[in-house]
Amino acid sequence: MRHASVSLVAIAIAATCAIAASVASSPTLSQTVPDAGEDRFVDSVLALLTLEEKVGQLTMAPVEGTQTGPRMPQGGEAQIRRGLVGSFIGVTGPERTRALQRIAVEESPHKIPLLFALDVIHGHRTIFPVPLAEAASFDPALAERSARIAAVEATADGIAWTFAPMVDIARDPRWGRIVEGSGEDPYLGSVMAAARVRGFQGARLDDPESMLATAKHFAGYGAAEGGRDYALAELSERTLWDVYLPPYRAAIDAGVGSVMPSFSAVDGSPPHASTWLLRDVLRERLGFGGIIVSDWSGIEELIPHGVAATRADAARLAKRAGVDVDMADGIYADSVVSLVKRGVIAPALIDEGVRRVLRAKYHLGLFRDPYRAVSTERAGRVTLSVANRAAARAAGRESIVLLKNDAHTLPLSRSIRTLAVIGALANDGRSAIGPWAVRGRPEEAITVLDGLRRANPAMQVQFAAGARPEGSDTTQVASAVALARGADAVVLVLGESAERTGEAESRASLELPAGQMALAQRVARASRGKPLVVVLMNGRPLAIPWIADSVPAIVDSWYLGTEHGNALADVLFGDYDPGGKLPVTFPRATGEVPIYYAHTNTGRPTRSDDKYTTGYNDLSSTPAYPFGYGLSYTTFSYRELHLSSDRIGMGDSIGVSVIVSNVGARDGDEVVQLYLRDDVASVARPVRQLVRFRRLSLRAGASDTMSWKLGAGDLAFHDLRMRYVVEPGGFTVYAGTSSAATLESHFVVTGDTLVLDEPPPRMQ
Ligand code: BGC
Repeated sequence: MRHASVSLVAIAIAATCAIAASVASSPTLSQTVPDAGEDRFVDSVLALLTLEEKVGQLTMAPVEGTQTGPRMPQGGEAQIRRGLVGSFIGVTGPERTRALQRIAVEESPHKIPLLFALDVIHGHRTIFPVPLAEAASFDPALAERSARIAAVEATADGIAWTFAPMVDIARDPRWGRIVEGSGEDPYLGSVMAAARVRGFQGARLDDPESMLATAKHFAGYGAAEGGRDYALAELSERTLWDVYLPPYRAAIDAGVGSVMPSFSAVDGSPPHASTWLLRDVLRERLGFGGIIVSDWSGIEELIPHGVAATRADAARLAKRAGVDVDMADGIYADSVVSLVKRGVIAPALIDEGVRRVLRAKYHLGLFRDPYRAVSTERAGRVTLSVANRAAARAAGRESIVLLKNDAHTLPLSRSIRTLAVIGALANDGRSAIGPWAVRGRPEEAITVLDGLRRANPAMQVQFAAGARPEGSDTTQVASAVALARGADAVVLVLGESAERTGEAESRASLELPAGQMALAQRVARASRGKPLVVVLMNGRPLAIPWIADSVPAIVDSWYLGTEHGNALADVLFGDYDPGGKLPVTFPRATGEVPIYYAHTNTGRPTRSDDKYTTGYNDLSSTPAYPFGYGLSYTTFSYRELHLSSDRIGMGDSIGVSVIVSNVGARDGDEVVQLYLRDDVASVARPVRQLVRFRRLSLRAGASDTMSWKLGAGDLAFHDLRMRYVVEPGGFTVYAGTSSAATLESHFVVTGDTLVLDEPPPRMQ
């Protein structure tokens, strides 16, 4: 408080008790009804500000080369001094953030502290598996832990606001940003979204190790047409509500502090200008009370979208829709003051946004300690610590998915004397850490090659790149083949480099490029009779039909982060039994995407003996690997799927249990999955939907009984009139090791249709 102005000190002292009480009792920012003491404080600060200073609080300035869009950096110390900037994206480091904060709290007119924001997506300096990989762990505790560690490191670096988690459902792997989310399923996506919010925000936001999280990109960004980034999302309202919005609801329920609108127009309306999406749906229906922060230049892009003619027009539309903070394009700073003065924007629209920003700063404890205990000492202590690296290694191991393991090729024997490691990605630290590792350093990553070398120092490990990830060049294939021939075992690393995934990295083809295919075919031929393992490094499902048929063992390692190579070596040599499961369906060919397990019933369900059923005539109707699929070095069996009753009354819950046994010879992890099908409803429903899962470790020979309760919320959907209902009738429950589970049981819900919610505001 030493640096606060007289006016703020007085307000702060008067409100101290209320502040402390409200922060303690209300850890969530998304609640719509703020605490009275907090409100008084925020209103008193608001009353001090000129219109220009209010717009300053709504302005997030970019610096230090973080831009992902076309704008040049702006902002800086002069603006802080004049109170014309409320937050920054891209300033990091204890000295730099403290220096700018000092200007704000000592030299600006009202000494309002700054917020420093950054995309801390899957780790800060210690990089964890990319979010899609972490979703493959089916372990929300793991996702919470890694988000927490990211927060601990990032806050020590001065960051108080992250633009994560991305909670967009993605069913089209051509879309490069599928890597940033939890895959195709709304339930898994919701569980992971909530876990990550809890991790970033902690139990209390004013804990200096907690930071504000952002659920993004609201909404339907993952439905970009053809998988082309930024393209239109042509969504039905039912699909929006039943598939794309649940993870947002989960994030909001977990208290997420901010939400970022999507770049992609939904039904013709860009979200940054959509009062329906931001006010009617997000604020009113979903009850979100935190900050709506624009995406990078998302407001300015209303012009090329063709819904705004000028920058001022874009500002007006975004403000009307309720975008609070303008990230990077400076458009509010340029236009809003004159729009208010001309009566085009009501002053109340400005105040609502400023209140939210001040409230966030208040919840983060910035008015009490603007520096949030940031210091070089703390940063040095917590950054890339031994414990953080160990956590990243554990997260990496859990995220690996074993796709194929014929004849027990894996685990590899420790008595192998020479191991050939082939593929450029094996030696690529940048790909180990994956996309969106803003402060991660490739040189600190354990590559596949490093990891295998460390795992067994007595083993001779030789490396050949063989082929680059992109292109058709085969000039280096011969030397890789020679290496394979001379080795006892071969690890062949294939896939896509991290630079080829993420934002603006859509692909028209999920097949491997010609160079890698030639390498795979020739190395496989040269490796006959010896253990050959293909390790995939990828940020999306790939179509690998030849490899799936021809190679004995396949491991999907995604991008596992700083400890990639160590985590992978743990699995390949059997120190850890893989238990990850696919959070997204793997197609056989690009032409069948979007392909996802929870597709809607058709009148002609696929039947191989009947031509007039849904599917392709040049491809099997089953995916290469289904959602939820993943093998282990041991084997699990399921029996006795038991329901507490075969009939329940409307609104009642039902107990479900199943016995899972490890019938193999090794200890291992299994993700027990429970799916539900609504047999007859007023609208065509998904063929099945994940409703529960649990990852458990079982010793060889051990069994466990999993029990769950399913209630109305698990059976509900949006009916023909868009009411959220449970309808009477039959349901089928499936339990098993993937979305293809066949163990089933049935129950009937009796009574009248239960309306849980009236229709949401219609799309407009
Ligand atoms: C992305 C956001 C990100 C922002 C700031 C944008 O291009 O769409 O997800 O948070 O940049 O880096």
